[in-house]
Amino acid sequence: MATFQAHETAVIDPGCTIGDDTRIWHFSHIMSGCTIGERCNIGQNVVISPEVVLGNNVKVQNNVSVYTGVTCEDDVFLGPSCVFTNVINPRSAVNRKDQYMKTHVGKGATIGANATIVCGYTIGAYALIGAGAVVTKEIPPYALVVGNPSKQIGWVSEYGHRLYFDGDGLAVCPESGEKYLLKDGEVVRIG
Ligand SMILES: CC(C)(COP(=O)(O)OP(=O)(O)OC[C@H]1O[C@@H](n2cnc3c(N)ncnc32)[C@H](O)[C@@H]1OP(=O)(O)O)[C@@H](O)C(=O)NCCC(=O)NCCS
Repeated sequence: MATFQAHETAVIDPGCTIGDDTRIWHFSHIMSGCTIGERCNIGQNVVISPEVVLGNNVKVQNNVSVYTGVTCEDDVFLGPSCVFTNVINPRSAVNRKDQYMKTHVGKGATIGANATIVCGYTIGAYALIGAGAVVTKEIPPYALVVGNPSKQIGWVSEYGHRLYFDGDGLAVCPESGEKYLLKDGEVVRIG
């Protein structure tokens, strides 16, 4: 038996799978066929649209709508009032419900408050999208991006700290001590 908790004002439609220890707060709506992992926190006034898949320990802050076509891996953080999209050229009079574009958010990535994610791209694992950014491109793993349109201004560790690479392409996270290598424009954790 599932042990998730939902506030009495939350609405959960049929056919959803919700993992143990997930919490769903006031006035949120989980639509049909969603899969939500364990230990997630779904804040207030959140909409999770049909068939959305969220991994484990995903934190969705207040006022976020996660639309059909969006997938989030484990440990993703969706900041307050960030905005996804799933149609690139919406028209009220043209039905494009069979043309939803996909947006994938990789493990451990963070989307800042009020950021807008234009559909059809992947946000790489552990990328950090600054508050208010407008993402219009693929975002590499560990990238730090800000602005409208968003531009990469650096790299961040899995703990969310700036990484400053030396001449050999090596950097150390000041909090975790984890080591990273920047090679051929890509960052990997090496220890
Ligand atoms: C992007 C972010 C992580 C950068 O933090 P940082 O590494 O400490 O960066 P700094 O504050 O040193 O800023 C570096 C530069 O980027 C700019 N900048 C920082 N955040 C920015 C943002 N969100 N949008 C546009 N520019 C930004 C700064 O003005 C500064 O510009 P400058 O070099 O011209 O002076 C942080 O500002 C941010 O937006 N965090 C998200 C917060 C959030 O949404 N939390 C949600 C949960 S409450």
